[in-house]
Amino acid sequence: MTNLNAPGVVRQPVSVTRKMSASLPRLRGIAQDKGLKIHHLGAGYPHPEVTDPRGFIAHEAAYLEHLTEREGRNDPDSLPEHLRESFSYGDTLGPLSTRQVFSRVYGNDWGVAMRPECLIPTVGATGGISLICSLFEHAGSPIAYITDAPTYAGFMARATLCQHASIFSVELDAEGPVPETFERQIHAARAAGNLVPFYYTVPDGHNPAGFSFSESRRLEILEIARREGVLIVEDAPYLYINFAEPGDRQKPFFALDPAQTVHLFTGSKIGFPGPRVAYLYSEAELTIADGETAALADLALVQASADILFPNPAAFRGFEALLHQADFSERRSLWPVAEEKLEVYRENRKILLDGFEAELGAHKDVFHWTVPAAGFFSVFTFLGGNVRTDDAFIEQMVADYGLVVIPMYDFYPPDARVRNPSAGYDQLRISFCFSESAGDERRKDLQEAVAVFCRAAKALAGVV
Ligand SMILES: Cc1ncc(COP(=O)(O)O)c(C=O)c1O
Repeated sequence: MTNLNAPGVVRQPVSVTRKMSASLPRLRGIAQDKGLKIHHLGAGYPHPEVTDPRGFIAHEAAYLEHLTEREGRNDPDSLPEHLRESFSYGDTLGPLSTRQVFSRVYGNDWGVAMRPECLIPTVGATGGISLICSLFEHAGSPIAYITDAPTYAGFMARATLCQHASIFSVELDAEGPVPETFERQIHAARAAGNLVPFYYTVPDGHNPAGFSFSESRRLEILEIARREGVLIVEDAPYLYINFAEPGDRQKPFFALDPAQTVHLFTGSKIGFPGPRVAYLYSEAELTIADGETAALADLALVQASADILFPNPAAFRGFEALLHQADFSERRSLWPVAEEKLEVYRENRKILLDGFEAELGAHKDVFHWTVPAAGFFSVFTFLGGNVRTDDAFIEQMVADYGLVVIPMYDFYPPDARVRNPSAGYDQLRISFCFSESAGDERRKDLQEAVAVFCRAAKALAGVV
């Protein structure tokens, strides 16, 4: 054992999703011994049916070949420039061409004249969360992050790594964060001596809250953020996993005000999670030490150069291929790419919501579920207070019904649990994104899973 005297080092709590995956093999064994089939309504992973990389790999190879030809080298045996670049120490900003193309395509989709110099590559949106936290933690003074109750577990895990950071959370209603609480929490955090740099949220397809914020609520929150001088960190993995009609899609915060927002784009859901391609985008300017002004993107670049030095250039080039069509012309939009994924998620969402409505629709005094306009999740609530969705309940769901679901209580930040010790203990996060099967089997498996879930919910809530 290394006898290092490190009293400041604390063990971070293990998240409920991690605990769940650790105990799953044992619970799965119990369920299978009883002859029960395992039903996945817990995992938040992209569906295997839409993440087969083989088509992408072929397109990427053809695109790279096209780049080689476009270079027009005199000596055919010489190393193509894009290949040299992909396997060398590169730039912290990643390949310029990828940022330029992405700015045009993404900017066109969301109506923003994006500036490529404001795009900072990150290692997934996870890396974006870490980057923006690191930026403000450096000052060393007490810091408070405003976020939702419930909030994304990955944000809580990162935010609580810093021992001089705390979370001031804001309850959600059916439209988004409650504006009065949002404002009050900013004031409370400041009154306690904290710097309050930003509000972290997932406005589209909220993970775990299972809905998207309304337009009017976005505007209200933005107004308060501007007045209070607080940035909005918008984590946007599900922007394209969007079930609204094209005319009804909400504008993300960065389209409403790119100077007030730090937008976290990730290729994990629209493309693939493995390559870890993502960008932080912001046009914000900050007042920093000695009254100086600095572009947030510049500060993030310096931070990133110490954190990751440079992103994997080959992965970003691969993403660039995704931004081009089969004939290598630049896409105008990422929606056709999303559409290939949406077919499966749209169908799964419908199976879930139709199943709930058919089986539980007559008991809306006992059960409530969110109807997600985007993302992977619906939050299911047992009304009436006679069901407690704690760890024992979750274990019982697996052992007695073969159902894997995620409890909500762990997604509530500590201050929210002080305000309401029962927060989330009547809720489950139900995901419709993942199963082990494809095509007709997938449809059948999900229908079965929903039927078993509804039967279990009725039995556990005492509905005859
Ligand atoms: C809200 C949210 N943020 C971030 C992530 C992680 O994204 P990435 O794979 O880009 O790190 C997820 C993945 O589930 C998520 O739901």
